[in-house]
Amino acid sequence: MPIIDTFNRPLRDLRISLIDRCNFRCPYCMPSEKYHHAYQFLEKGQWLSFEEIERLARIFVGLGVTKLRLTGGEPLLRPDLDLLIRQLSTIPGVDDLALTTNGSMLTQWAERLKAAGLHRLTVSLDTLDETIFHKMSGEKGSVRDVLEGIRAAEAAGFGPIKINAVIQRGINDHTILDMVKHFRGTPHSVRFIEYMDVGNQNHWDLSQVVPSGEIIALIDAKYPLQRIGGTQGGDTSETYRFKDGQGEVGFISSVTKAFCGTCNRLRLSADGKMYTCLFATHGTDLGSHLRNGTTDEFLSHLIRVVWMKREDRYSETRADFQHNSQTSPKVEMYQIGG
Ligand code: GTP
Ligand code: 5AD
Ligand code: SF4
Ligand code: SF4
Repeated sequence: MPIIDTFNRPLRDLRISLIDRCNFRCPYCMPSEKYHHAYQFLEKGQWLSFEEIERLARIFVGLGVTKLRLTGGEPLLRPDLDLLIRQLSTIPGVDDLALTTNGSMLTQWAERLKAAGLHRLTVSLDTLDETIFHKMSGEKGSVRDVLEGIRAAEAAGFGPIKINAVIQRGINDHTILDMVKHFRGTPHSVRFIEYMDVGNQNHWDLSQVVPSGEIIALIDAKYPLQRIGGTQGGDTSETYRFKDGQGEVGFISSVTKAFCGTCNRLRLSADGKMYTCLFATHGTDLGSHLRNGTTDEFLSHLIRVVWMKREDRYSETRADFQHNSQTSPKVEMYQIGG
C-alpha cells in the first residue's frame, strides 16, 4: 500500500548508501583536512549486510517504493557489490535500479554491474579540465579515468548515462561549455547541479552558487535549447533538448528553484539509519531494530509512521534554517549519497 506524508507526497525512491568511505576528497563533501587517514569511518561490522539490505528493500517496495538507487560515499568500494545488485534486481516491483559513482573505478566494474542486472548509471564529473578536477576531487582523481570508466560502461551495454556536474562559482563555472560540447551528440546527458549547503563541512555560501538560469542562458546562447521537462513528476532535474537534435542537458536547481513539493525520496545510511531529507538532522535507526530480531511487520509499521509524519522541505525554507545549522548538525552527503 502506498503511503503519503503530511504534504501528500508518496514514497517512491529509496536511496541506499552502501559505505561511508570514498577514494576522493572533494572539498565540498569530504575535505581532506577533516577526513584524513586517522578518521573513523563506520566499521565493516556496522554496515548493513546484503541480506539486511534486501530485506529492507522488500519492505520498502511493499510501501510503494519503485526506484532503488545505490550510493555511498563511493559504492564501488563495497566488496562484492554485484552480489547485492543481483539480489535487488530480482525483487518484484523494482522498476528502476540505478547507481551513482565517481566513475574512477568503473573500468574494473562496468561489466560485472551490467551482468548483475543494474539498470542505470549516474557518474559524477564536475569538469573536463584535469587541473581543476584534480583540485575538486581533493587531489585524488583524474578526468581520464572517469572518461575511460564511462567508455567501459558504454561497452558493457549501459544506455544513456547521466553525468552530474556540481558547479561552483570561480572554481569550474568557466568550464561549463566544454562539458556541454563534449557530451553533445552522445546519448549521455550532463546535469548541472547548483552547489548546495549539504552537511556541515563545506562553508557553503550563496555567492558560490551559480543559478541554473545563468547556466541555461550561457548554453542557450551557443547551443539553442528547448525545455522539455520539469520536476512536477518527482524528478530532481529540469530537462532541455538541443534544438538541433544533438541530445539533452539537465539542471538541478535546489537553491534557486526548490523541488520539495514533489520529493518522494528517502535515504538509508550504510549503518541502517533512515533519513527523510538530504538535509535532515536526525535519522531513524532501522539497523538496530533489524539486529534485535524485529519482524517485517514492525519495521514496515515504523517506516510508515515516520513517512506519514514527514514534513521536510528544507530547500524551500533554506533562508530560515541557515542560522540553526550550528546547533543541530545535518547528516553529511557522504553518509547518505546524493
Ligand atoms: P534519476 O533517477 O536519474 O532521475 O536521478 P536522480 O536525480 O533521482 O538522482 P541523482 O542521484 O542523479 O541526483 C542528482 C543530484 O541531485 C544529487 O547528487 C543531489 O546533488 C541532488 N539531489 C538528489 N535528490 C535530491 C533531493 O531530494 N533534494 C535535493 N535538494 N537535492 C537532491
Ligand atoms: N552540492 C551539490 N551537489 C553535491 N554533491 C556532493 N556534494 C554536493 C553539494 N554540496 C554531488 C556530488 C555527486 C552527487 C552524489 O552529489 O558531486 O555528483
Ligand atoms: Fe566522494 Fe562523491 Fe563525496 Fe566526492 S562528492 S568525496 S566522490 S562521495
Ligand atoms: Fe526532498 Fe529535502 Fe531535497 Fe526538499 S530538500 S527535495 S524535502 S530531500
